[in-house]
Amino acid sequence: MSENDRHPFLAGLSKHRGAPPTCLVIFGASGDLTARKLLPALYNLAVDNLLPADFALIGFGRKPLPDAEFRAIAAREITRFTRRPFNPDIWRRIEAATYYQAGEYDDPAAFSALASRITEIEKAAGTSLQLVSYISTPPTVFESIVENHGRSGLAARGLGTQTESKIIIEKPFGRDLASAVQLNAVIARNFRESQVFRIDHYLGKETVQDLLVLRFANPILEPLWNRRHVDHVQITVAEELGVGSRGGYYEHSGATRDMLQNHTMQLLALTAMDAPASLNAEHIRDQKVRLLESIRSLQLGKGGDAVRAQYTEGLSGGEPVTGYLAEKDISATSGTETFCALRLSIENDRWSGVPFYLRSGKRMARRVSEISIQFKQPVDGLFAADSRYDIAPNRLVIQIQPDEGSTLILNSKVPGLEPRTQPVRLSFRYAATYGSDTPEAYERLILDGIVGDRTLFIRGDETEASWRLFTPLLQSWAAAGRAGLETYPAGSWGPAAGDALLAPHGHAWRNAGR
Ligand code: BG6
Repeated sequence: MSENDRHPFLAGLSKHRGAPPTCLVIFGASGDLTARKLLPALYNLAVDNLLPADFALIGFGRKPLPDAEFRAIAAREITRFTRRPFNPDIWRRIEAATYYQAGEYDDPAAFSALASRITEIEKAAGTSLQLVSYISTPPTVFESIVENHGRSGLAARGLGTQTESKIIIEKPFGRDLASAVQLNAVIARNFRESQVFRIDHYLGKETVQDLLVLRFANPILEPLWNRRHVDHVQITVAEELGVGSRGGYYEHSGATRDMLQNHTMQLLALTAMDAPASLNAEHIRDQKVRLLESIRSLQLGKGGDAVRAQYTEGLSGGEPVTGYLAEKDISATSGTETFCALRLSIENDRWSGVPFYLRSGKRMARRVSEISIQFKQPVDGLFAADSRYDIAPNRLVIQIQPDEGSTLILNSKVPGLEPRTQPVRLSFRYAATYGSDTPEAYERLILDGIVGDRTLFIRGDETEASWRLFTPLLQSWAAAGRAGLETYPAGSWGPAAGDALLAPHGHAWRNAGR
């Protein structure tokens, strides 16, 4: 049998030499994430010839479905959500290696059946396959799935070798410190940490990966990246969308669990951590943990370090939209926050005394995720003494999305005889420099899972360090119910109390466009 006869999927699909023969199993195969992100990501990896030469996909879900029906659903969702046009020739090659396996997540027999299915596929392929399990189910079944990987022997496949089984776990990773510790313990009973890939899709975004390059490959920045030169840092992750059809999930999550505890904290960690000893995944993750552990505990209560709020009716993209309480699957007396803002202090040599402001919300004025580093103004600057000049603080704005790029704001003299200055922007835009055809976060992360690179995934102690900070806050809000919950009109930049968080230091949110 020649190389290319062994399996229908072999026909020249791999230019990624490091990707071993792989069987990817998606648990939660009929879920929203699978349709919108995972299947399109696999398809786009195939377009770029980045999938392993021997590759099989198994969708695992509770609903019984023949392979053919799952293939038809997958083709439909890929066509709908792919970032590049659907090419039937490429799809046909994936389709031939796509299967469906039905079973309950807490049923050990279903996992034995899955193991047998993988063996059958291996026989047909004439090669053994590394197992990569992608858990994209509701969190209530995470532990059962992990335990069943242990019981069925799926977790131990290839243990200690490059192709040992790998498990990719979607968020939410716990809902507080105790549940995250418990989930980590269940995982540790069944897998080695080297097999575990906790996903935070923000780490897969190009601009987020570029943070390391920006900071550590441009040595002119490092001398400025500290409390002597930085006045304060703002991180905004604002969405224009409301909760849409995800009310059932969101009602038990809220903005803090959904965005702050994970995505926004990862942006903070990469922005503020010290330089890692090397680009090795463990060195980077060590530095992120050290940073998260040096954040001072939050002051709770009125006038403290956190503000939460819920959107009321307003306008989104010029169209009237309902308030959160009128959304589908939301309790009329819900205390769930759709906006959260924090003021953080990092107690280390680099950052002591520099406020870090973080905020995230749904139904805000614009979709924008950015990190803004504002530098200090000289106390006795040459121009500061002359009231004719209006000198703006220097600022570096890293725009994570949309319109990815970064901008350095400097002062310049306005041409002419008048003594006038004006802030100007030195701007780099990904689309202008590299074109706009960049891979989606999930493409990078699935590929990294397959080749076993954990740099862009979160370690167990990292998630616990973040939950340690947030748990007392979330408990205090749960106890208070709606008391102290602010509101903001849909389509605004959040409640006034969110602005007041910055006022003691004379700061203001940099609302996009300002
Ligand atoms: C998800 C949240 O993790 O991230 C969603 O659950 C949110 O509520 C989404 O909309 C935002 O991701 P992105 O990549 O669109 O910024």
